[in-house]
Formats: sequence, structure tokens, C-alpha cells
Amino acid sequence: MRLAYGCMGLGSATPTPKSDEVDRADAAVTTAYEIGIRLFDHADIYGGGSAETAFGQVLARHPGLREELEIQTKCGIVIGGAEGGNAYDLSQEHVLASVDGSLDRLGIDHVDRLLLHRPDPLTSPTAIADTFDALAAAGTVRAFGVSNMDAAQIAHLRTAVRRPVDVNQVELGLHHRDLLEAGVLVNHPDATAYAPVAGTLDYCADHAITVQAYGPLAQGRFTGQPRGAEDEATARLVDRYATALGATPEAVVLGWLLKHPSEIVAVIGTTDPGRIRACATAEQVAEAMTRDQWWSLWTAARGKPMP
Ligand SMILES: NC(=O)c1ccc[n+]([C@@H]2O[C@H](COP(=O)([O-])OP(=O)(O)OC[C@H]3O[C@@H](n4cnc5c(N)ncnc54)[C@H](OP(=O)(O)O)[C@@H]3O)[C@@H](O)[C@H]2O)c1
Repeated sequence: MRLAYGCMGLGSATPTPKSDEVDRADAAVTTAYEIGIRLFDHADIYGGGSAETAFGQVLARHPGLREELEIQTKCGIVIGGAEGGNAYDLSQEHVLASVDGSLDRLGIDHVDRLLLHRPDPLTSPTAIADTFDALAAAGTVRAFGVSNMDAAQIAHLRTAVRRPVDVNQVELGLHHRDLLEAGVLVNHPDATAYAPVAGTLDYCADHAITVQAYGPLAQGRFTGQPRGAEDEATARLVDRYATALGATPEAVVLGWLLKHPSEIVAVIGTTDPGRIRACATAEQVAEAMTRDQWWSLWTAARGKPMP
């Protein structure tokens, strides 16, 4: 299954979720499980920690469920860590404390994978290597990955870390297409905007690093929540292809992403059970989608023809 469930929306306004909020989280998790999803994505900061707490309470309601799931979390963003904004901290002290906090909130003894949420220029790859080793030795983290990194940053990290980096989680989909645009605009004036991420998809493919795409439903832009006229034009095309393919619009938006040969995993974030179910056939739609449909969707979403 190349869908994962992103738990960012499962939190609440208070550190301890209320029972109706846990019910809501339960409905989302259960629906995701029913459509075949087994990978659940967290971060220490989602809902100020309340998303992990709600998820932990859902696990407690379903004995045996944890063993069936792959649970990953992220660390490194410090909300309000700088005057006027956030900071990123991948120091060993911060990461170890973050993992302990996540395990406590989730009510589990290890996470299946830990992702470094964003790069921290003040922490060297050597220091990160030592932190990964300490977590692996403690048995609290089984695998390691990164998020929001480009090819050069991952290559730099891999010069020091002694364990596989097997995931890079980045924003990617029919709306946020930077990693794909970079690949078709080589030597074109428009390429400058995408230059930093050029080659990232290829690098990940070459090094067995799974790309996990966040924002794959474009926050509903093409499936009922357009933000402007361009979104509406793309949404009409999505609807037309949904009818032609006998699929839901959500599966068409996700199918577009999953058709890429690098075996991307889409991390869906809707908490609505009906919308989660609407994603179920994304992989079949990716198979059935024609080249014409794929290029037409891309052209519509970018708002201008390919060069
Ligand atoms: N690594 C990172 O830096 C990073 C950053 C952001 C997110 N993430 C991960 O990626 C996951 C998914 O991100 P995302 O939530 O931005 O992705 P998404 O699946 O594209 O968008 C889902 C969000 O859009 C809303 N939405 C509104 N109308 C919708 C519609 N018609 N169809 C679908 N969604 C609609 C959903 O609200 P409802 O719940 O009401 O449907 C939900 O808040 C997160 O949960 C998190 O795990 C990672």
C-alpha cells in the first residue's frame, strides 16, 4: 500500500484530548486501517503533542493494533524556539528528549522510524550519527529518515551516519510540484525557482530512499476546496477523469502522484472518514491513468504549457 496516514489533524487545542476528540481520531485511524493503510505518520509538535496522545489512546482502545502498524514520528522543530518564530534543533539532547516524549504520549516502547523534521545547520552529521546510534542501541527507534531535505543535504548526512536513511518526507503533489518541475525545466529560465531541489527524486531513487509525499491531496484544492480560478479549472479536469476512470476525484489526485515510477508514498492528512475512503483506490487509478491524462493534469495545475 503506497498510502500512509498523516496524523497532524488528530490533535486538539488542549494537551489532553477530550473523549470526543479521541472518538474522532479513532474514526480516522480505523477508516485508514480499513482501506489498508498500516503506516502512520506523527511529529512531536502535532497539536502540541496532543495528536500523539490521541493516537496513543486509540491504540489503547484496540489491543493488538500497535503490532500491525508501522508508527513513525518526527523531531527537531521547536515551535517558538526563536524570537519571532520557530527554530530547528537536532542536538542529541533535544532529539533524545523528543523521542522519550513521543513514546510516552503514544504509549509505546519504540517507534518504527524517526524522521529529522527539518535540517538544523548547527548540528553536524557526525553528531546526528551518534544520536542515531544511541537511539538504536536503546531500542527506542528501529529506522531513520529525514524530511524537507534536498539531495545534497542527504548526501552530506550520509557521509557520517552509520545506519540507513530510508525515507525523505517532502511536500509533493499535483499542487506542490517543485521536485517534479525541477526535472523538466533543466536549462530553462523558470528553473531557478526549483534549482535547490533538482535531482532530489533521482537521488532518493538511486539510494533506496522512499519519498513520502505530504500534502498529496493539496488540502482539497482540486476536490472541493478550490482557492482560486486555476484550482477550479484543474478540479474540473480531475472530475472529468474521475468519471472516465470510474474513480473518486481524491483517487485521481493521488493517482497522478503515485504514477511516478519512483514508488512515492502519499501521506494523506484528511480526518474525514468519507474522504479517507475516497483515497482507497489511488494505486489502481495510477495504473489506469493514461499518459495523456497525466500530462494534462500537470499542465492544468501549473497553469501554463510545458516548455
Ligand atoms: N514533514 C513535514 O514537514 C510535514 C508538513 C505537513 C504535513 N506533514 C504530514 O503530512 C500529512 C498530510 O499533510 P496535509 O494534511 O497537508 O495533506 P492533505 O492530505 O493534502 O490535506 C489534508 C488537509 O486538507 C483538508 N481538506 C479540506 N478539504 C479537503 C478535501 N476536500 N479533501 C482533502 N482534504 C481536505 C483536510 O481537512 P479535513 O481533515 O477536514 O478533511 C486536512 O486538514 C500530515 O498529517 C502530516 O502527517 C508533514
